[in-house]
Amino acid sequence: MAETLGFCEELRPEGCGFVLFGATGDLAARKVLPALFGLCEKGIAPRNFYVVLSGRTPLDRPALEARLAAALGRSGVPPRPAAFAAFLERVEYLRADYDSPAFYAGLAAKLEALDAKFGVRRRRLFYLATPPAAFEPVSARLREAGLLFDPKDCTCWSRLIIEKPYGSSLETAVSLASSLGRAVPEAQVYRIDHFTGKETVQNVLALRSANPVFDGTWNRAFVDHVQITVLEELGLEGREAFFEHMGLARDMMSHILQLAAITAMDLPASFHDADFKTEKKRFFDSLRLPAPADVPAMAVRGQYASYSGQPGVAPGSAAETFLAFRFFVDNDRWRDVPFYVRAGKKTGAKATRIAVVYKKPAAGVFGAMDIGYPNVFSFGIQPEERVDFTLIGKHPGPRLCFARREMGLDYRPVPGEAAKYPTDYERLLLEAMAGDRTLFLSYDEIRRMWEFLSPLLDSWREKPAACPLRTYPDGTPGPAEAAELLRRDGRDWV
Ligand code: BG6
Repeated sequence: MAETLGFCEELRPEGCGFVLFGATGDLAARKVLPALFGLCEKGIAPRNFYVVLSGRTPLDRPALEARLAAALGRSGVPPRPAAFAAFLERVEYLRADYDSPAFYAGLAAKLEALDAKFGVRRRRLFYLATPPAAFEPVSARLREAGLLFDPKDCTCWSRLIIEKPYGSSLETAVSLASSLGRAVPEAQVYRIDHFTGKETVQNVLALRSANPVFDGTWNRAFVDHVQITVLEELGLEGREAFFEHMGLARDMMSHILQLAAITAMDLPASFHDADFKTEKKRFFDSLRLPAPADVPAMAVRGQYASYSGQPGVAPGSAAETFLAFRFFVDNDRWRDVPFYVRAGKKTGAKATRIAVVYKKPAAGVFGAMDIGYPNVFSFGIQPEERVDFTLIGKHPGPRLCFARREMGLDYRPVPGEAAKYPTDYERLLLEAMAGDRTLFLSYDEIRRMWEFLSPLLDSWREKPAACPLRTYPDGTPGPAEAAELLRRDGRDWV
């Protein structure tokens, strides 16, 4: 393992209680419960820590334990019995009735009792793994029950974690934010986009900050274009009902724009919340919003061939499972540099990648010859966690010939090392426990995302013939028109 350099910040959150609403739902089973268990198993949860799981389904203790075991088993390796037993000691279940004041009174009493048992000083996180429609009523009831403490009043705190979708349109996102704002101050709201918690996403910013060679050349003078790829092997796997309503653009746009922001934002003065958010906001403010008339030429939507036959999918459904588009960032660093994105389901293999493609030589020996793009910085976000750089050098041998070469860096060269460190969700839960909002999204980002997305969604709805839904065979990287999008500009996906 390489020695660490400079500062090395480690999170040590203080003791707290964690309340998970929607604990019997899909998000809880897939992401939140495995993360809570992982934090405990890896020994990085606070020492004084407990978990209250709450859902509408009545569950006795054996049923709760069976559900937890099943969720953890499905999320990866089945838990070791000793670690699972230790986790269960910290977990309680409370059946939820989200509309009833009596439920919140019961919850308040339970939390007081658990605080005393685990030595926690009224410090609580409420994770709303519920449909967004429940965010406002639940937070209002928490406030009425005296459970949303204002940190100014005491050494205690309470924080609310919520998850996308943050609305389904600009209007619903604005109304969700204002109703949530009535119940809880912004400073206590933690909006998750789990891509910000990925190690390799943070590494992009780390590399840019510490190595002037990156940041000094990441601008319009050197970079020809940027590509962002978020392809997934899996299809909808039981989430068809959600997709029928949302589609891929609404589901994935936040992740895509977070990857774009980390790549293109100016470097913050520090990695702390205010500095980081200031620069990120400047990036979002510079995003050029699509003009409705440009949408047919800048975006391609697709659907994998077997989608339409699946249970829960309406005949002739127009839900997109693939999206490719081009966008621009109107600031001094990136003006006129195209960013190309492709994201989709059932595309044959999972690959999340950012590629910064440098300009071709304009002068010198190769100035008049097309040798392709000599330099590409490619960041493998997942499942491959790598940084690769291509360059052209001399081909070994007696003559002066040139060849394309590649330098590669494995982000985690030590086998098994990844299992010791927090996953994306684990890291974000830890940050929320520590009260660090740096990696969480501000309302400004959400609003800007919807402003960006709305012209696409409107065009697809209002002028479907101008932006046809393209079918692509299962297991292929999207429709041919996605390649055409770049080819028209004289480029290809790298
Ligand atoms: C979720 C989307 O937010 O992110 C899913 O709702 C998507 O549709 C998932 O599959 C991708 O996340 P990851 O970390 O598994 O690549």
